[in-house]
Amino acid sequence: MALLDWYDRHARSLPWRAPPNGPARMDPYRVWLSEVMLQQTTVATVSPYFERFVSRWPTVADLAAAPREDVLRLWAGLGYYSRARNLHAAALAVAGAGGFPADETALRALPGVGAYTAAAIATIAFGLPANVVDGNVERVMARLHAVETPLPDAKPELAALAARYVTPERPGDWAQALMDLGATVCTPRAPGCDRCPAAFACKALESGAPETFPRRRAKAAKPERHGVAFRLLRGGDILLVRRPEKGLLGGMVALPTTPWRDEVWDRDAARAHAPADADWRASGAVRHVFTHFTLTLEVWTAEGDAEGDWRAFADVGAHGLPTVFRKAAMLS
Ligand code: ADE
Repeated sequence: MALLDWYDRHARSLPWRAPPNGPARMDPYRVWLSEVMLQQTTVATVSPYFERFVSRWPTVADLAAAPREDVLRLWAGLGYYSRARNLHAAALAVAGAGGFPADETALRALPGVGAYTAAAIATIAFGLPANVVDGNVERVMARLHAVETPLPDAKPELAALAARYVTPERPGDWAQALMDLGATVCTPRAPGCDRCPAAFACKALESGAPETFPRRRAKAAKPERHGVAFRLLRGGDILLVRRPEKGLLGGMVALPTTPWRDEVWDRDAARAHAPADADWRASGAVRHVFTHFTLTLEVWTAEGDAEGDWRAFADVGAHGLPTVFRKAAMLS
């Protein structure tokens, strides 16, 4: 098969991956951990996080035994923090059960494991033929078959096309070969069709404009939201808070902030949410793109005192702040 031959020569060397044609089974812990990290995050960003996690917690039992705060702290910067909370909950469930289930349905029952991740673990870790469909695979299928239905409506059609290729022969390598093809050759903007092992069969290439697939429905603009974050300083320390469990960045260490709302905050309204009555001055603003909105966070700074969790400002990068708050804390 042309794609498996290509994979044997061009598979990316990734820290969680066995070499192509390697052992039929890989450590399910490493497969699961990498797949959860790779949900919505690129290979380049994930790799160093993955290495830190497995050197600190070499087995799922080690991860389950870790305090949750440590897991959240090591996750800081990867984004989508519900993944870290689910990761720890799933580790507890798996360690309690004595290991990962070798079955897609049972895998799906784990917190944070959806259809894609369950299929990926079943096929990469356990060698089961499963239809693993991520954005890369959708793009490859849309091009190979010149699918005119726009995304996201095309998702079931693209999954059905991908299912046609699933075979019991090296299913884990097949799934990863498709992902690598999508990531390195059949890329969104400038596909390298001259290097593609599937070019001979590609209907989008035949059409003359492969980069125009997959078709997309016009997107609604992202809403803008606004907040004010407070840098309260006392000597060399900064006041941090832990965010409520429910909601965005739940359970993470953060700067105190107003709620985030559609309107810009005026000074008095924002002051009502400040952690101390102090001489607040504006330090600038940071912008951060979340899945469902873009946030502009104004940053105010003051010297003052309040009850709470004071941490050394010099170590502000090490307290496990999510990126948006780390950027805000670093403004002056
Ligand atoms: N993206 C998500 N999972 C992946 C994997 N196992 N290999 C390459 N890219 C991926």
